[in-house]
Amino acid sequence: MAEPELVAECVAAMKEVVDIPVTVKTRIGIDDQDSYEFLTRFVSLVSEKAGCEQFTIHARKAWLSGLSPKENREIPPLDYPRAYQIKKDFPHLQIAVNGGVKTLEESLEHLKHLDGVMIGREAYQNPYILAQVYQLIFGLVYSSEKAQAGCGRDVSIH
Ligand SMILES: Cc1cc2nc3c(=O)[nH]c(=O)nc-3n(C[C@H](O)[C@H](O)[C@H](O)COP(=O)(O)O)c2cc1C
Repeated sequence: MAEPELVAECVAAMKEVVDIPVTVKTRIGIDDQDSYEFLTRFVSLVSEKAGCEQFTIHARKAWLSGLSPKENREIPPLDYPRAYQIKKDFPHLQIAVNGGVKTLEESLEHLKHLDGVMIGREAYQNPYILAQVYQLIFGLVYSSEKAQAGCGRDVSIH
């Protein structure tokens, strides 16, 4: 994230050799580089220079100096509105949120603002959560006007 130009180069190189979408997962910041402008510069460079159209935003920053990977999944506070704002500022991109989502009800709330939700630990700590994905998430979507217009939603398991 500290080197968006390099990320853009990597994404462009990957896009050249695969036929599937190349997506990028990012935090909202690293260490003291945690302004909204830092995040928008990253998204803007990687989307414009490399043509990346799908981002998953883990809605907390990472303390690279000082916290372990495990602590970095728990200690930095979650800031979902920051991910929502990215969708507002880049409406043409597919934006999913990740981090701390434990229920499908929460997922539905996020889907009011975003295109997708990525569920990590809860999917393996409580796999039964997945049993109702089709009914609660896609069931609602398929009966909505938005779905008929071809707009998708996504819940991915990492
Ligand atoms: C054991 C484990 C391994 C992970 N490995 C990766 C990884 O290789 N790449 C990545 O972007 N995130 C990785 N993550 C982070 C998760 O994708 C996710 O961003 C994080 O757990 C927060 O989402 P959650 O609260 O839904 O679990 C890992 C998480 C765990 C628990």
